[in-house]
Amino acid sequence: MSKPKIFVARAIFPEIITRLEQHFDVESNQNDVTLSKADLIGKLKDKVGVFTTGGERIDEELLSACKQLRICANMAVGYNNFDVDAMTRHGVLATNAPDVLTETTADFGFALLMATARRITESEHYLRAGKWTKWSYDMFAGSDVHGATLGILGMGRIGQGIAKRGAYGFGMNVVYHNRSKLDAATEAACKARYVSKEELLKTADHLVLVLPYSPSSHHAMGAAEIAQMKPSATLVNIARGGIVDDAALALALREKRIAAAGLDVFEGEPKVHPDLLTIPNVVLTPHIASATVPTRLAMANLAVDNLISYLTKNKAVTPLNPSVIATK
Ligand code: GLV
Repeated sequence: MSKPKIFVARAIFPEIITRLEQHFDVESNQNDVTLSKADLIGKLKDKVGVFTTGGERIDEELLSACKQLRICANMAVGYNNFDVDAMTRHGVLATNAPDVLTETTADFGFALLMATARRITESEHYLRAGKWTKWSYDMFAGSDVHGATLGILGMGRIGQGIAKRGAYGFGMNVVYHNRSKLDAATEAACKARYVSKEELLKTADHLVLVLPYSPSSHHAMGAAEIAQMKPSATLVNIARGGIVDDAALALALREKRIAAAGLDVFEGEPKVHPDLLTIPNVVLTPHIASATVPTRLAMANLAVDNLISYLTKNKAVTPLNPSVIATK
């Protein structure tokens, strides 16, 4: 019997391709060619499954053109590249890759917070440029992390991981805002207190964004929200580009209306707002919060688990629209 046909949309670990080939007829983009929407549609017309990595837009147009498609397995916890409602209408299963990246991503969020607060990359650039000729008492003086107020916007699994690092590791006073307040046991485990968004913005010394992107969180940190932050505060975005208004942030940083920012995600990435590239008080990284080899492998394997499970057993490990399974 012929194997189901799937497409792997981006280059991935060779062992992941080998694993997929045991179950599927695999076409892969191991050369990592940039595919236009039309190219992706062309690839998916005769496929029942696709392995995506978070950047491939799966929407009405694509689904209408790719009638054989049954599952899109995202190797990312975020899935704003999927129009899940359209996928449900077309009977296409959507899966993401939660949990396996939580601790790694929380580590990175904390690292970015520390690099931002303590001006680590800014001072390294200075040193590498040969500008360090003399030590001085106020050189790259930043702000303290220990004992400071840590604000978290979006208190899911990763937010909770960051809260614990702050509370237990650094004696921080943790406040958070979320769509819904956490139960008392989870709040106690994170040593975190629920506050309004306004109080969060006003009280945080370090504000970390970990909320999912959706049209309702677009520019959740715009000019008005940034204006409510303390002038000494730092802002860290490891969530998604588009949650912060990057132009408004660049202006606030340039005018020192907040002290510094750490950004792993950008509006329209991999393009970065040109102003951010010229401002010293911002740490910039290319969307790498989950990037350790074991975690990226675990994320890829979870996407593979979903493809195998659904296409061979009509089950899924981490479905986003499980009603599709029930109707098959
Ligand atoms: C990365 O950004 C992810 O959503 O997994």
